[in-house]
Amino acid sequence: MTLDLTPGPVNVRDFETAARDRLDPAHYDYFASGAQDELTVAANEAAFRRRMLVPRVLRGGGPPRLETTVLGTPAAMPVLLAPTAFHRLAWPEGEPATARAAASAGVIMIAAMLSTVSIEDIAATGATLWFQLYPQPDMAFTESLVRRAEAAGCRALVVTVDSPALGRNERGDRNGFHDLPPDLHCANMREGGHVRQVVLSPHISWADIGRLRSMTTLPLLLKGVLHPLDARLAVEHGVDGIIVSNHGGRQLDTAAASLDRLPAVAEAVAGRVPLLLDGGVRRGTDVVKALALGATAVAVGRPVLWGLATAGEAGVSRVLSLLRTELENALTLCGATGPGEVTRDELGGILA
Ligand code: FNR
Repeated sequence: MTLDLTPGPVNVRDFETAARDRLDPAHYDYFASGAQDELTVAANEAAFRRRMLVPRVLRGGGPPRLETTVLGTPAAMPVLLAPTAFHRLAWPEGEPATARAAASAGVIMIAAMLSTVSIEDIAATGATLWFQLYPQPDMAFTESLVRRAEAAGCRALVVTVDSPALGRNERGDRNGFHDLPPDLHCANMREGGHVRQVVLSPHISWADIGRLRSMTTLPLLLKGVLHPLDARLAVEHGVDGIIVSNHGGRQLDTAAASLDRLPAVAEAVAGRVPLLLDGGVRRGTDVVKALALGATAVAVGRPVLWGLATAGEAGVSRVLSLLRTELENALTLCGATGPGEVTRDELGGILA
């Protein structure tokens, strides 16, 4: 069933309302929730709201161009789809619907290891993909996932490092929602006749990053770095990019807001590798703020799921086009002709 989208949601928040109306309440809670008191979920968005832009005037540069290249992958705008698990909970077709919308918008989708459709079937949509990995203690299996991602044409490997365990999700506890329904499974974990258990291991260490580094020539990003010392270690381990992220507040509750950590990480990295940011990006102006504080691009998690749950591929397309229109408008009103022109100066008056 598709929803009539006219007049329809006019911003990302409207899409959340529309998605909540459509989804099974336990599934809505799975997508929306964070760990424990959800303080980090709130902090991510609050960090954007606290910072105010200081536009420049009379620059006469004409309309902005949003195209960019992130670690060698061209993209129509500096907004990626963050990896999120279980898209078939949101929409029957699942990840391929999301991927087609990403492809139409010309943006990069970071496909989650915990997808409900296999990486090969997502890649068959023709979308530009990166692959997100939770390194599994069985390194031979981890390597097989890396090889599959390479063979499927993924253009970068994103290793999530903020999950040595699962965060405590109390909405899930209340709803008794801990497992996928029996008709869904983690398609990439299928091996022979069974589906492998996913292991989030506290034993994963920098040595494993070294192993992954030597395993592939794909650009390697770490996702979930907040501390400048970890950012420095990442560069020392040959990592090509860092995603400043607290997993959308779903892991360690009260972890600092991503945007608040971006300046310190940017200072530590000093331009040696590009930085991405996710967590709480809901507006074009949010993208501008992240770029100004040192990000090359941002990623969005829940907004994509709200679009998918509302109207499948058309809903994701609409969410991406709303963000694009807002970003274009924000850059124009800031007097910037492109993402690369946004610097901290544009933000003269950050309210901390
Ligand atoms: C996630 N995220 C995530 N990250 C990851 O590395 N692997 C994963 O499988 C998932 N799964 C997942 C499921 C759901 C439902 C959500 C909401 C998030 C985290 C995601 O990549 C990203 O860090 C956050 O979603 C960004 O915050 P916003 O945009 O949702 O505020």
